Amino acid sequence: GDWELRIVCMGAGYVGGPTMAVIAKKCPRIRVAVVDISTSQIDAWNSKDLPIYEPGLQEVVEETRGKNLFFSVDIDAEVAAADLIFVSVNTPTKLTGIGAGRAANVKNCELCARKIAEVSTSSKIVVEKSTVPVRTADAVRRVLATNDKGIKFQVLSNPEFLAEGTAIDDLMDPGRVLIGGEQTPDGLAAIEKLVKVYAHWVPRERILTTNLWSSELSKLVANAFLAQRVSSINSISALCEATDADVSEVARAIGSDHRIGSKFLQASVGFGGSCFQKDILNLVYLCESFGLEEVAEYWNQVIKMNDYQKSRFSSLIVSRMFNTVTGKRIAIFGFAFKKDTGDTRETASVFVCRNLLEERARLHVFDPKVTREQMMLEFEYSTGTTEKTVPGLNELVITAECPYEAAKGAHAIAILTEWDEFKNYDYQRIYDSMAKPAFIFDGRNILDQAKLGQIGFEHYAIGKPRRKEW
Ligand code: NAD
Ligand code: UDX
Repeated sequence: GDWELRIVCMGAGYVGGPTMAVIAKKCPRIRVAVVDISTSQIDAWNSKDLPIYEPGLQEVVEETRGKNLFFSVDIDAEVAAADLIFVSVNTPTKLTGIGAGRAANVKNCELCARKIAEVSTSSKIVVEKSTVPVRTADAVRRVLATNDKGIKFQVLSNPEFLAEGTAIDDLMDPGRVLIGGEQTPDGLAAIEKLVKVYAHWVPRERILTTNLWSSELSKLVANAFLAQRVSSINSISALCEATDADVSEVARAIGSDHRIGSKFLQASVGFGGSCFQKDILNLVYLCESFGLEEVAEYWNQVIKMNDYQKSRFSSLIVSRMFNTVTGKRIAIFGFAFKKDTGDTRETASVFVCRNLLEERARLHVFDPKVTREQMMLEFEYSTGTTEKTVPGLNELVITAECPYEAAKGAHAIAILTEWDEFKNYDYQRIYDSMAKPAFIFDGRNILDQAKLGQIGFEHYAIGKPRRKEW
């Protein structure tokens, strides 16, 4: 057709799918194709069961799919036909080799650059959407330059700031869009081309443009600062428990200072998700590779505090339950890393569960969006927990269809995700069905502790004054 622009996005994951769907919705005259090496992923995007759950996503996809939004495995043809190419592939922490456990693996980005150089027959703008170490654009640019067809490429950095569970709202109304590019006439022209795409719905003053390296670095820094706030309030939650201060009151008191701000001060069992830890490790590794040991160690503390918070929670469960959970049934409410998503990557829940399994507890897990298959994969992937490390794993972890079933006969409940529906259950009914004393450990501070006390629960919440007998 007579398109204003042709966009292709390489990588149909949590970022590529929703981002392109929103561009397609907001720019009806732009043709948007999303390609992936995974046939099953593309098939799912073309079906009625989308591969990821995000509130509002289904509607946007159904409105645009087949009109100006297309999901395809024909990478070569779509890339060749595009003016602008987003690279939105996964960049996980390296598991082996140089920088193992810290450095981000940018292999997929390089493979995309090689593919683009191979199949292109005209000049294009290549946009890094993936989160990458600073100066990755330089490598991408050099790989693209190896084409022998005399084709010119411009490389831009356009990191994504969406959060899972609110991806569609974040994309429709972003706090800012960040675009970095080379500060040359060609580079500035490429930046302007991408600005024009976002300007279809984002006010100009919210579209920030910078040089390439500032843009790449800002993404890592934004996540490091956000995660740091969570670790900071979580560190204070431990102090609150020791002093009978209440972390929610402290958060409100400090958050009322406009210089501090009230957001992201919710104490929890620990942050999870595919980004925070990975991106901080990426930052730490980057600092180390420039010889900035003190800076690296400063940011590494954010992760150490998060590890401490997760293990503090599982240890507390064991110690409160008379120092043993062996053979006890524990209901786990929530396995996703936050509410409104089925994503389990790096979820705090899996670490708490692993620790309880090592104590030989029997877990009955309920999560509104996470399947058993996904749960068992996460055990292996995040914590290396398999039948080998925890014999009988498949019998020790039971997935429940509903919360009442999970809690029936249990000695304790642990709330590990802040799903809204968890607030509204009939806790009297749940209490009546449990073994006594019935414990409840709220790792998200979403339940009314006073009410739980009235019902008769032995209750605990993060960063709250301790019960006298504890
Ligand atoms: P994802 O794993 O959900 O999706 C990545 C997709 O890329 C996969 O479907 C994979 O098959 C595909 N892929 C890999 N190599 C490919 C190749 N050579 N050609 C075509 N497709 C290929 O990952 P994601 O969560 O969407 O994250 C993508 C990037 O965005 C990462 O760098 C991540 O750090 C960043 N990011 C993620 C979030 C988030 O909330 N998930 C937010 C902001 C930024
Ligand atoms: C994050 C960033 O927010 C987003 O901008 C970036 O693009 C990707 O990484 P995401 O990981 O999807 O997004 O979710 P986020 O809302 O940031 O939550 C991350 C983790 O921190 C979750 O486990 C959440 O439960 C936890 N958290 C968040 C807290 O424990 N307390 C808070 O106050 C906020």
